[in-house]
Amino acid sequence: MISLNTALIKELSLLPSRPKIMVIGETDTGKSTVVKTLAHWFQEQSQKVAVVDSDIGQSDIGPPGFVSYGILTQSTTSPQSITNKGSYLVGKTSPYGRELSVVTGTKVCVEAAQRSEADAILIDTCGLVKPAGGVQIKCAKAEMVKPDLVLALNTPGLTPLVNCLNSLGFHVRNFLPSKKVKTKLAKIRKENRISRWNAYMGDSPSLFSVHHSRAVIRRWWDESRYVDIDQIPHGTVAAIQDPQTPGFQIPCIWTISEGDPFVLAPLPKNCKLGTIWITAYKLELNGTTVTSA
Ligand SMILES: Nc1ncnc2c1ncn2[C@@H]1O[C@H](COP(=O)(O)OP(=O)(O)O)[C@@H](O)[C@H]1O
Ligand SMILES: [Mg+2]
Repeated sequence: MISLNTALIKELSLLPSRPKIMVIGETDTGKSTVVKTLAHWFQEQSQKVAVVDSDIGQSDIGPPGFVSYGILTQSTTSPQSITNKGSYLVGKTSPYGRELSVVTGTKVCVEAAQRSEADAILIDTCGLVKPAGGVQIKCAKAEMVKPDLVLALNTPGLTPLVNCLNSLGFHVRNFLPSKKVKTKLAKIRKENRISRWNAYMGDSPSLFSVHHSRAVIRRWWDESRYVDIDQIPHGTVAAIQDPQTPGFQIPCIWTISEGDPFVLAPLPKNCKLGTIWITAYKLELNGTTVTSA
């Protein structure tokens, strides 16, 4: 666990009660590590901490392709110690072309974290911060969430975004990324996505038979990439409405077994599926284990 410097601790102590803190930076600048460190710090102050994970490609809380939020439950801050409380479907591991659903999911998760009476809400973000599209998605997130503090892991590429956020009136505090931050190769990123999906599904997810004639199957937000509703391929990311948390979706995987369609999800066997949302985010499966994501 890295330690927070004195200037930052002072800054945190001056924040209003129940602060929202958004961490921004380019890819591999240590954003998620800073979020974990902050989570630990707030927990040490006996605060109930919520983390909103809006990095849909390198998720720490729910599976990739979803914006998720969770509440810290143990004294350690490994991802496993954050209980996933809700996920919002995006259906892609890159925010390009899905900016609106990423921003919507972030807002929905922050509002749910506020309703859960979290004392501090930490918002992790993706590394898309430039050019204009990156600035826009982060400004939109900030406008929707209204963070009390934006922690910027500043690199030259972040300057236009930081300038915009400052001009919008946000309180941005700049930090240089740690020299110890390690770059994650594409292969490692892919392995992280696979392990996040398998961790989410657990050891024995349930297989729900899907009868096309009875189930309501819809493209998520009218998914623009090609996805044939009548021939949904093996290993497609899907979701159902979350009955416990209206407005959230439970991540599922659409699969084909012996020619018949099923949905795979870590849910009780008697669970009703309702509408099944389909995306064009494809996975590869070996049985119920995700092997490519
Ligand atoms: N201060 C630090 N000391 C040592 N390792 C770090 C530090 N910050 C980040 N890392 C490591 O660098 C890698 C990238 O950090 P991460 O927080 O995942 O970056 P980001 O979320 O910006 O992509 C991870 O393997 C992480 O463990
Ligand atoms: Mg990260």
